Amino acid sequence: MSAGTNAKESSRIPYGGYYRRDDNEVSAAERIVTHAGPGSPMGEYMRRFWQPVCLSEELTDVPKVVQILHERLVAFRDRSGQVGLLFPHCSHRGTSLEFGIVQQRGIRCCYHGWLYDVDGRILETPCEPAGSRIKETVFHGAYPAFERDGIVFGYFGPPSEKPDFAEYDSYTIPEGTRLVPFSNLYECNWLQVFENLIDHFHSAVLHNNMTVDGLDAALAAGMNLGEGFREMPVIEWHTTRDGNGMLFTAGRRVAPDRVWVRTTELALPNYAATASLVPTAAELRHTTVAMSRWQVPVDDENMIVLGWRHFNDEIDPQHYGNAQDCGYDKIDFLEGQTRHRTYEEKQRAPGDYEAMTSQRPVALHHLENPGRSDVGVYLIRRLLREAVAGKTPADSTRPLAKAEGETLSTYTSDNVVRVAGVGGEADRELIATTCREVLAILKETDQVPRQQRRAHMLSRLDEFDGGL
Ligand code: FES
Ligand SMILES: [Fe+2]
Repeated sequence: MSAGTNAKESSRIPYGGYYRRDDNEVSAAERIVTHAGPGSPMGEYMRRFWQPVCLSEELTDVPKVVQILHERLVAFRDRSGQVGLLFPHCSHRGTSLEFGIVQQRGIRCCYHGWLYDVDGRILETPCEPAGSRIKETVFHGAYPAFERDGIVFGYFGPPSEKPDFAEYDSYTIPEGTRLVPFSNLYECNWLQVFENLIDHFHSAVLHNNMTVDGLDAALAAGMNLGEGFREMPVIEWHTTRDGNGMLFTAGRRVAPDRVWVRTTELALPNYAATASLVPTAAELRHTTVAMSRWQVPVDDENMIVLGWRHFNDEIDPQHYGNAQDCGYDKIDFLEGQTRHRTYEEKQRAPGDYEAMTSQRPVALHHLENPGRSDVGVYLIRRLLREAVAGKTPADSTRPLAKAEGETLSTYTSDNVVRVAGVGGEADRELIATTCREVLAILKETDQVPRQQRRAHMLSRLDEFDGGL
């Protein structure tokens, strides 16, 4: 080996660190999917969707500075209840509206009193003479915003392309579902956190005794997902919604005659819905979403998760009532989701936060050595690349949701079905086939009206296995 040996060659020799010290740049190809600043391919793509910006609880009687998609903005709720997302620097002479005064209608700059409505319209310029026409000739930079169940959403794209909000049936099914807002801040690129959701194998390692063995009980408590997650699952990945989403099915034998099929879907560009967090695996029969969440870029090296925990009698009932543990940068399940632990705790019992943020501020894909278990991660990157390049057709499930009262069907679910085990490798084949069959039933729900979807699923599962 010479000093000119390249990183690829040197990765095949022992003690080859000398040759590899400098290979730490994010490549142009990697930036296509990781970078979301204004004008960038991913930034432009993400700006075609409603994105969560902050929690409603963060809007008080003073303005709130937010940073989303590399843009710094001032968010506020005026005293009539309208939500505004404005460029921070006053259109007059640049004073920041973070020091503005929230008014009955709009926000007033503290310096010379220009008053802005939520759409950027200038309502008053009090230092100007009567008859001044400045306010008729200038609009301040503004984005549309609305609040939904404790989250403020904004739209950052061209006004003419503003889409409908994607309304999933899981927001209101089962009846009595309460959406409780939360956020979590991560010091890493947004894509690492998005990929983590499709990287289901880690739940059998990071969230199980493989990484907390030997710890004292107090530290280990709260680090593990339920029993059911301990098995190495049989996983398959599929694209959904004409390439606008993807899902995995994870199959595990949970009893001699039962298979648990867990389905988790991601929708482009950055939405995910996950199923039960602490499954009582042998009993689940088509339970739906426990958490809906958006992975939102703040800048290249910081991101924020904003979303809802779903509380109802069916999903994680043992967690019902933990809503007070959800909120700004806090979540009610599984230690290791946030930055708030000590360094020693993080080292001795690492969680998702440590695993994702330590992949580097922006993970270097060209240094990875992917295996069979990484197919899902590479699939989501490919789907994002194709969507950004404009190669993905429109999602044909979307128009269905436009009918009165209709919603997008949710594939994310836990389904236990009765399938007798056959043992050994053949059983893993059988589990894979079972997952495909359950998925086929799930996908039928696109065509079933919202009110009947759940009953349809249950009766189809009964047809499949004769009932639990
Ligand atoms: S700088 Fe804002 S009103 Fe003058
Ligand atoms: Fe995890």
